[in-house]
Amino acid sequence: MSVSAVPLGIYIHVPFCAARCGYCDFNTYVPSGAEQPSTFLEAALREIALARAELGARRVSTVFIGGGTPTLIGTDLLVLLEAVERSFGLLDAAEVTTEANPESTTPGLLRALRAGGFTRISLGMQSATPHVLRTLDRMHTPGRAVAAAVEAREAGFAHVSLDLIYGTPGESDADWDDTLAAALRAEPDHISAYALTVEPGTAMGRAVRSGRLPAPDDATQARRYARADAILAEHGLDWYELSSWAATPEARCRHNLGYWRSYDWWGIGPGAHSHVGGVRWWNVRRPAAYAVALAAGRSPAAGREVLTAEDRALETVMLGLRERGGLALSALTPAGAAAVQREVARRRVELVGDRVQLTRRGRLFADAVIRELSA
Ligand SMILES: C[S@@+](CC[C@H](N)C(=O)[O-])C[C@H]1O[C@@H](n2cnc3c(N)ncnc32)[C@H](O)[C@@H]1O
Ligand code: SF4
Repeated sequence: MSVSAVPLGIYIHVPFCAARCGYCDFNTYVPSGAEQPSTFLEAALREIALARAELGARRVSTVFIGGGTPTLIGTDLLVLLEAVERSFGLLDAAEVTTEANPESTTPGLLRALRAGGFTRISLGMQSATPHVLRTLDRMHTPGRAVAAAVEAREAGFAHVSLDLIYGTPGESDADWDDTLAAALRAEPDHISAYALTVEPGTAMGRAVRSGRLPAPDDATQARRYARADAILAEHGLDWYELSSWAATPEARCRHNLGYWRSYDWWGIGPGAHSHVGGVRWWNVRRPAAYAVALAAGRSPAAGREVLTAEDRALETVMLGLRERGGLALSALTPAGAAAVQREVARRRVELVGDRVQLTRRGRLFADAVIRELSA
């Protein structure tokens, strides 16, 4: 593909939340002092103009507004989308997603987003079990995420995704089954399910370190993953990436597919990462420093690297194997190709034509398989 034929995605990071969840180490802040959504909005509009000047005329395949809690800025999300449309133009049938916290959506906002061009909504549900939501410091009641998904459908969204987390301390197998059943009742066409990661710098990380909370164990996580995969498949949601299940090929998140396939994307916002033509860079993390740089006409980038051929080969294996379609045998080094035979014998991968694909068992050991095949 020539550079301009590579699909272009725009990611916009809204770095604010109403409160911090104790498990989350995303680059997000509760608004205070100089760090306010209005200052962020102005700076993000400046970075969109900067991106257009750098990239030239390229139309955008996917827009993904993430966070943080994008829905905290309400209909200002439309101002961001309009700026992308005005600066670049969207391809026909572009996918336009916003993440949303169920607490900060209303039927009116969802209708406005749909009318303004958003095509997909991704709601952070996490769990349907009250004690699990409490351990996660989630403010919404168990039913709120399902209600928000139904409201999104009523507002005209054909594509509604729910994020779930499994393996929270205190969660039982039955709790996880209840969560999956509740999520399915909302009839999403996409579900992402993530194993809880205990991040060191978070309140949950401190609670686990001090022994106040037990750490999730691998066997439990593997059992919950296998259960999710089986139940979701039974209900017509098939895996297409390690943590992602979709009802149809059209329901797959094309923006995320762009990350896994190393397409081009420009990340707008504090701490956002970009990748264009084999060059990767990342922005300063604090919203105040980000706004100051852009107001002074400077790039908000904090660092940059040019990927070597070796980096790219490693990424091809790491990212390609995450997808159901796997990766071409020819993408592996001779040592990696030799490891395929061992992994087939361990029933962790299978060869389908010239594609190396993870088996269900292999998905439970994906990190280890990726290490073997990246040799
Ligand atoms: C930016 S948040 C989604 C939108 C919104 N802020 C919310 O939480 O409802 C992206 C997703 O990452 C997942 N996530 C965040 N921290 C995690 C952790 N420590 N372990 C596993 N999943 C995590 C959650 O499922 C969350 O919905
Ligand atoms: S999980 Fe979502 S709502 Fe909670 S702190 Fe992280 S980004 Fe904010």
